[in-house]
Amino acid sequence: MSELRYDGRVAVVTGAGHGLGRQHALELAARGAKVVVNDLGGDRSGAGASAGPAQEVVDEIKKNGGEAVANPDNVATPEGAQAIVKTALDAFGKVDIVVNNAGILRDRSFKNMSVEEFDSVIAVHLRGSFLVSSAAWPHLREQGYGRIVNTSSPAGLFGNFGQANYSTAKMGLVGFTKTLAQEGAKYNIKANAIAPVAWTRMTEDLLPADFADKLGVEQVTPLVAYLVHDSNEDSGQVYTVGGGRIAKIFVAEGPGYGQKETLSVEDVRDNWAAIGAAEPLTVFGNVGEQMGPLIQQLTS
Ligand SMILES: NC(=O)c1ccc[n+]([C@@H]2O[C@H](COP(=O)([O-])OP(=O)(O)OC[C@H]3O[C@@H](n4cnc5c(N)ncnc54)[C@H](O)[C@@H]3O)[C@@H](O)[C@H]2O)c1
Repeated sequence: MSELRYDGRVAVVTGAGHGLGRQHALELAARGAKVVVNDLGGDRSGAGASAGPAQEVVDEIKKNGGEAVANPDNVATPEGAQAIVKTALDAFGKVDIVVNNAGILRDRSFKNMSVEEFDSVIAVHLRGSFLVSSAAWPHLREQGYGRIVNTSSPAGLFGNFGQANYSTAKMGLVGFTKTLAQEGAKYNIKANAIAPVAWTRMTEDLLPADFADKLGVEQVTPLVAYLVHDSNEDSGQVYTVGGGRIAKIFVAEGPGYGQKETLSVEDVRDNWAAIGAAEPLTVFGNVGEQMGPLIQQLTS
C-alpha cells in the first residue's frame, strides 16, 4: 500500500509544544506537511507562558528536514486564534488542516470547583477550539478544502470524578464537531474528534505507571493523521484511541416508547423498561434524522 503523504498541505497544530500535539506536528511534518507549531508554553494548569516549547519542536522538525514555524499565542483569545492562523497564511500562504489539541487541567471535585477553574478550562479546550476553527473557517470554505480534528476525551464522553470543567468542555467538543461536519459538508471540510489516552505530563499522575511505555503519544497520532488526510471522507465522527487500540464512539438512541395520548407520570413509570431499552440502537446523522421517529408518531 502507498504511504500517506501531506505534501502541499499546511497544518496548524495547537498545543504542539508537548505531548500529543508535538507528536502530531512531528508526524505531519515528516510526511510532507508544512506545520504551524502553536504552544503558549505554560504549565499543566495553564499558568505561565514561554515561546520555548513551540520553538523546540520547530527546531526538531527542521533538523529532520521538514518545514515548520512556531507560534506562541493563546488559543483562548480571539486575537491569539487569529494570530495562529495568520502565522500559517504569512509563512505558507494558506491553511488546510487544523488540529485543536491545546489543553490544560484544573481538576477539583465539583463541590469545591471555583468559577475560575471552570471558566479557564472551558476557555482553552472549548472556546479555543471554536476560536481557532473560526479563524481558519473562511479560508477552508473559500478553497473548498479543510480537515479539522478536535481533541475530546473519554472523561467528557463518560464523565470523570473531579473533572466537571474538563468533561463539560470535552463533550461540548463532540457537539461542536458534529455541527462543523454538517456546515462544512458542501465545502469539503471534514471535522472529526478523538478521545485519546496517552502518557503525557497531563496524565502521568493519573494513569497507572505500569502502562507508561505502552501508552505512548505515537499510538494516537496515526488516527489524527489519517483523519486529516485528503483521502479521509469521514466527518462528524468520534474515535477513542490509545495504546494501539482504536474504536468509534457513537451517540445513539434506543427504540424508546411512544403513545398518542398525553403522557402521565404513571405512563412514564409503567413504561420505564421500554423507555430505557438499549436495543436496537439507532445512530442519527443529524437532528433532522433524530426527529424522524417523533414525526412518524405525530403523523401516523
Ligand atoms: N493524554 C491523555 O491521555 C489525554 C486524554 C484525553 C484528552 N487529552 C487531550 O489531548 C490534548 C493534549 O494533551 P496532552 O496530554 O498532550 O497534554 P500536554 O500538557 O502535554 O499538552 C498540552 C499542550 O497545550 C498547550 N496549551 C495549553 N494551553 C494553551 C493555550 N491556551 N494556547 C496554546 N497552547 C496551550 C500546553 O502548553 C501543552 O504543550 C489536550 O486537549 C488534552 O485534554 C489527552
